[in-house]
Amino acid sequence: MKTLIDKAMEKPCNLSLDEIERLLSLSSSDDRTSLRKAARALKHRYFGNKVSIRGIIELGNICAKDCYYCGIRKSNRNVERYRLSIAEIERMAETNAALGYKSLVLQGGEIESEENTRFIEETLKALAKFDFGITLSLGEQTKDVYRRWKDAGASRYLLRIETSNRELYSTLHPPSCDWRRRAECLKYLNECGYQTGTGTMSSLPGQTINDLAHDIVFFNESKAVMIGMGPYLSHPDTPLAKCDLISNQDKLERALDMIAVTRLYLHDVNIASTTALEALAADGREQGILAGANVVMPNVTDVTRRKAYQLYSGKPGLDETSLAAKERLDAALAAIGEEIDYATRGDSPRAQGE
Ligand code: 5AD
Repeated sequence: MKTLIDKAMEKPCNLSLDEIERLLSLSSSDDRTSLRKAARALKHRYFGNKVSIRGIIELGNICAKDCYYCGIRKSNRNVERYRLSIAEIERMAETNAALGYKSLVLQGGEIESEENTRFIEETLKALAKFDFGITLSLGEQTKDVYRRWKDAGASRYLLRIETSNRELYSTLHPPSCDWRRRAECLKYLNECGYQTGTGTMSSLPGQTINDLAHDIVFFNESKAVMIGMGPYLSHPDTPLAKCDLISNQDKLERALDMIAVTRLYLHDVNIASTTALEALAADGREQGILAGANVVMPNVTDVTRRKAYQLYSGKPGLDETSLAAKERLDAALAAIGEEIDYATRGDSPRAQGE
């Protein structure tokens, strides 16, 4: 195991699929601790003790997709649908700036319409004055739409592939969702010059360790420079909820293994310690950093709107103001010897080197 870790640390992509699978299969807690320590050492090699912050604004929960796992799926009638106005988004962006964050993620349900495309363009133009690094996370779109949003000021885009296994994908989505189109969108994003991020969920019903190893190889093949992964967490109003049989502890361990092995394989990409980890354990986000992640995405959406954007149950921080969350984050990071990077917009070293 140690030689495998040493080999991984020498240079990026220095593991075979089989070796990735072996690192994802460690079962003793000593071995897992060594794996995470090595991944964190690599995080330090590329990012020092700094953690990049991206404030996230949840623009709206209207969604055309009907993913079997997601709480804001089109068919869920128990959700009160909303969309923020540009004035509201600007106010939340001001909060982001006041907290010293230099990067912003705009996330929302997937909508493909000219009206929505224009709305996002206008939003991006209204946010230009803040000089943030802006990431969009608005799902599958045509290449033309991606280009328009890039021209309007976005520089990064997050589109999780959810799982690299097409067959598994088809058990988690209705037939109208096509894995190949999603993979194609990642290609378009690269072609449009975005810093592209992708990611997957772990602990999905029916998912194997072999699938997860393929996910990590997929990250490299898709030329992603940012990775956002998290455990699948059930939402009671979704068809998949009854298939969720894995304990929270096992989900947390699996998600942390994915972060660690992704760091060991890809080295210098941005890896987020996602909110879903915090849903599993109060210190889940810190555990993500300790396993090699270097990005945290605090929610800067107004607390009055947060309840309507629940992709899974147990979403943390529903009532916590952005300022209180920042103070808690500062303290939590200090306790593990890390600090917020206020100096940069947190571009991936991989993207800068290109
Ligand atoms: N559990 C965990 N993550 C989820 N997402 C959606 N629903 C869930 C869930 N039930 C994730 C998907 C999506 C991202 C915005 O949220 O990976 O890409």
